[in-house]
Amino acid sequence: MVMVAFGVANVGWLIMRPDPVSERQDAAMQARPELLAGKALVQGSDCMRCHGFERSYVGPTFADIGKRYAARADGAEYIARKIREGGAGEWGRNIMPRHPQITQQQALQMAQWMIALTPGAASASTASDPPASAPAAVTTR
Ligand code: HEC
Repeated sequence: MVMVAFGVANVGWLIMRPDPVSERQDAAMQARPELLAGKALVQGSDCMRCHGFERSYVGPTFADIGKRYAARADGAEYIARKIREGGAGEWGRNIMPRHPQITQQQALQMAQWMIALTPGAASASTASDPPASAPAAVTTR
């Protein structure tokens, strides 16, 4: 039991650095590989310089973006257009640069991944297990 839990955590560690939201999302998204492709595209571009999964830097978090547009019928198309054309004034005073090298199809995949973050983001606050980092007993002999 303990070994199984350790093994699972270990695989997660190997795939990517631990990020509570994205790890939970990866588990939830395993049935939809196209979503993981969208995430991979985001991570392979320059997005993470300015965006985080749950911490905002220059731009809003991807979880917040997904939440904001998830209910819109044209949410994915809107996000895809903003990725490719850039913009400003929606979240603050910083500028989202254009990404003309990203194809419409890639931008839509990124957008669908952001929108899919939404259900997990809503339950994220209840699932924060403290890390298993109790100090090991130290013997001084
Ligand atoms: C130089 C920093 C920077 C980079 C790089 C960047 N963004 Fe942004 N992004 C921003 C900022 C700042 C905003 C908020 C703009 C605003 O307030 O309208 C933003 C907003 C967004 C939005 C929301 C737009 C809206 O109208 O609500 C999406 C979606 C987005 N970024 C996706 C991406 C993706 C995907 C990438 C990588 C391909 C990326 N961003 C790269 C800074 C950046």
